[in-house]
Amino acid sequence: MQTSDGKEEPGIPDSPELTPQIDAKMLRACMGLFVTGVTVVTYLADEKPAGMTANAFMSVSLDPPLVLVSARNSSRFNQSVRREVRYGINFLTETQRPLSMHFGGRPTDGLEPLFKSERGTPLLEGSLAQIVARAVDVHPAGDHNLYIGEVEYIRFGHQEHPLVFYTGKYRQILAHLPHFSTNGSTEGW
Ligand SMILES: Cc1cc2nc3c(=O)[nH]c(=O)nc-3n(C[C@H](O)[C@H](O)[C@H](O)COP(=O)(O)O)c2cc1C
Repeated sequence: MQTSDGKEEPGIPDSPELTPQIDAKMLRACMGLFVTGVTVVTYLADEKPAGMTANAFMSVSLDPPLVLVSARNSSRFNQSVRREVRYGINFLTETQRPLSMHFGGRPTDGLEPLFKSERGTPLLEGSLAQIVARAVDVHPAGDHNLYIGEVEYIRFGHQEHPLVFYTGKYRQILAHLPHFSTNGSTEGW
């Protein structure tokens, strides 16, 4: 690698970070190195439960309690969820991988996911944890919309291993399971 005055700088290798154009494939490959869990965001579409698999999910604020989901513009989620509408966020377990595929653009014929209702919002039975959030802000961002939601309900569910997504594939985590108490997890935080 060269410095700005043209001298050779030892020890710093040329790297793809110098690539002038960021194409979608490269960005996707890079982001794939960021390990995430997998959620299914659940909502009512024409009064029927619907879902969208999303790993672009994050915690935003503790006070007030805010979370964020990024939804592609073409997703049906955008047609049903706008400001003040509630939606669910279900953290998937390893065994819910078929649901991730089902709500992630590869629907399985005959699969009938078990929903329950909380605050008029569908939630997926068998999830690691479930959240009901009310959309308080929707920000357009490129080809996605960022949904900021105020958390109104939390339920700790099945004590199983989480479903993990890494380098575009489903993975397993080898860690012992946390203990949940009624106030939340008692270890690790
Ligand atoms: C593991 C995984 C993670 C995904 N994460 C997101 C995401 O964060 N945001 C998004 O808009 N789509 C995401 N998708 C794609 C949507 O789930 C997919 O486009 C789905 O078909 C959208 O639902 P719809 O067809 O009902 O609109 C993800 C898919 C998979 C399999």
